[in-house]
Amino acid sequence: MSQDEEVLLNPEGRVVMISGANRGIGLAIARKLHTDGYRLSLGARRIDALSEALAAFDDERVLKCHFSATVPDSAQQWVSDTVDHFGRIDALVNNAGILRLHELDDYDEERLDEVLEVNLKAPYRLTVAALPYLRKCGTGRIININSRSGLRYVAGSADYNISKFANLALTHGARYEGWDDGVRATAICPGPTQTDMAGYIEPGRELTHPDTIAAVASLVLALPNSASVPVLPICCELEAGV
Ligand SMILES: NC(=O)c1ccc[n+]([C@@H]2O[C@H](COP(=O)([O-])OP(=O)(O)OC[C@H]3O[C@@H](n4cnc5c(N)ncnc54)[C@H](OP(=O)(O)O)[C@@H]3O)[C@@H](O)[C@H]2O)c1
Repeated sequence: MSQDEEVLLNPEGRVVMISGANRGIGLAIARKLHTDGYRLSLGARRIDALSEALAAFDDERVLKCHFSATVPDSAQQWVSDTVDHFGRIDALVNNAGILRLHELDDYDEERLDEVLEVNLKAPYRLTVAALPYLRKCGTGRIININSRSGLRYVAGSADYNISKFANLALTHGARYEGWDDGVRATAICPGPTQTDMAGYIEPGRELTHPDTIAAVASLVLALPNSASVPVLPICCELEAGV
């Protein structure tokens, strides 16, 4: 590692996978990392939506892949497609997610299964499939776009809270599993952010801009092995403990 890279890693040549890159926070991260100079493998369940969102991107550095969080084989397929194309994986950003609004006693196992599938099991599958490549590069990175709902309970979105708490455990698991081979994992935990997901929030309330989350993700990816950030809450409002 060069002296400069002891301060911040150089994006050039590094390959980053981002799920749910066609809109919201995922698209903001894709744009920022593209500007930084990374090579990107972008996953979405609708390639047409991805192509439309990424019309201005340099195709030389971008691979668009089908990724459906509810289809178990999709994770391994996307990882294989990325390695076939770029020959390496340096970072994985598990961003795709869903929110369902309901109380805990509004019992619906199908809904819980869907939320767990997208917010927990798909990131888990992608982590396991990508880990050998992240280990190989010596500075592998995993960012899980979690939520403040992974840090404390919010009434009215029980399945989401359950999935995000478990997603935090997945982040810690990846830190422990990969640490000796230079893999660093971070749970970025935003509060309400200006995307479709926050559409239920009353107008006029202050929200975090997705480009701000993207700027934070960019910094986290560039941190050297000697500066691991396990959990990073980002708040647009004052709240005790997070
Ligand atoms: N916005 C917030 O207030 C907020 C706060 C904290 C944390 N977060 C987290 O930030 C992440 C991104 O959320 P966002 O705000 O950008 O939400 P969003 O605008 O609703 O975008 C969600 C993304 O996830 C993708 N996705 C959903 N289900 C999928 C599936 N089955 N397979 C593949 N992709 C799927 C969507 O793809 P389609 O376009 O195909 O649906 C879309 O790209 C999520 O993990 C969310 O929990 C958001």
